[in-house]
Amino acid sequence: MSAGDWKDLLRASQEGDLGLVEYYIKMGIDPNYQHPEFLTAPLFESIRFGHLDITEFLLKNGADPNLKEGFGTDTPLSVAKSVQNKAAIQLLKQHQMSSSTKPSTDRINKILITGGNRGIGKAIAQQLLEEGQKVVIVSRDGQQGRAVVDELKTSSGNPNIEMIQGNLSSIAGCQALIQAVKVKHSDINVFISNAGVWMTDLQLNEDQLEVSFMVNYLAPYILCRGLLPILQANGPARIVNVNAGLYVKGKLDLNKTPTGLDFGPIHSYATTKLCSVLFTIDFAREVADSGVTINAVHPGVINTGLGDSPKLISKLIKFVKRFWKPPTYGAQAPSWLAISDEVEGVNGNYYNEMEVMPYIDVVKDKALQEELRLRTEEILNKSMFKK
Ligand SMILES: NC(=O)c1ccc[n+]([C@@H]2O[C@H](COP(=O)([O-])OP(=O)(O)OC[C@H]3O[C@@H](n4cnc5c(N)ncnc54)[C@H](OP(=O)(O)O)[C@@H]3O)[C@@H](O)[C@H]2O)c1
Repeated sequence: MSAGDWKDLLRASQEGDLGLVEYYIKMGIDPNYQHPEFLTAPLFESIRFGHLDITEFLLKNGADPNLKEGFGTDTPLSVAKSVQNKAAIQLLKQHQMSSSTKPSTDRINKILITGGNRGIGKAIAQQLLEEGQKVVIVSRDGQQGRAVVDELKTSSGNPNIEMIQGNLSSIAGCQALIQAVKVKHSDINVFISNAGVWMTDLQLNEDQLEVSFMVNYLAPYILCRGLLPILQANGPARIVNVNAGLYVKGKLDLNKTPTGLDFGPIHSYATTKLCSVLFTIDFAREVADSGVTINAVHPGVINTGLGDSPKLISKLIKFVKRFWKPPTYGAQAPSWLAISDEVEGVNGNYYNEMEVMPYIDVVKDKALQEELRLRTEEILNKSMFKK
């Protein structure tokens, strides 16, 4: 192998060219070789430049998580800490643990993930399968869901993944999903509520509710309550609510938000996520000491299809998104909350990635939590009355 090939692998790791990295590793370049001219290895560079997909690929393909840079004292972990690359820190810890044969959890859980057919949800499914877990993804398009199941079986080497069809756009759709889960997967003990939308236009669903209010808030509300009996029966059980840091910008008006009378693309996304955080705290109190926990998490700013639409502003955001982190990064914190022994029994927290964050004052307002719950029950009762 020529020195040029080795330098090209190093450069591709710095520039984030995963295809090229894969090519050179397949060609047999040693990922741990430190060229005397540079005294660094591709793993260090992928961490420094924040290319988590490459870090992950290198670790899976022979890069040593305990390598010393320049034969000095810096390790991949110390470099990740110095550049505050939290996802790389988590990834390296996982690899160090697996190389020391200690798994992050001894338990094999059965985990239901909404929005598991693409974006962060699909990356969560992949990571959990790699951890030896059993996974059920919810997909509203059955054909697409089945294709993802086949893909993840192959890429993870773990066949324990199934798909269940479900559409969270309406109250009836959520209720149908609960019934299907109870019939086919009554052994789940972890629920990751991940599906979400960022609407660029006002749209009402069949219940006359604004779509992001339905998908981002009401669907998790209905699913958490509907699945609670089976989660309790299979406890200890966990619910992970994939939320968004933008919730702090939300402004809830219980007379307007549910039907989109105050609709705005950023406003509605932030406000429906605010509702979801209010629900998380309220529900955490309700399930305390029942063997079920619920926590909310902001997964990071991640390059996915969220909010994509043919509008010019969306096209501009799509361009900017190329510099955001990959779904594998966004999957780290939700996966950790779903199975890690480190957070066993933790209930009612909000995590910014893997760090606990204090709630803003508005969500600690118990009266507001209760008002939202009562208004939600009113909406649900009205919808049942209609049928
Ligand atoms: N990306 C970020 O930077 C970011 C930041 C903070 C929080 N989050 C949160 O992370 C979660 C995942 O988002 P993402 O970035 O991965 O977005 P994404 O790529 O757009 O994926 C969204 C997922 O939700 C599903 N979904 C949407 N509406 C649904 C419905 N009515 N019924 C069933 N499934 C539905 C989608 O399924 P279809 O394929 O059928 O549409 C898709 O699987 C969301 O809750 C989002 O708010 C993301």
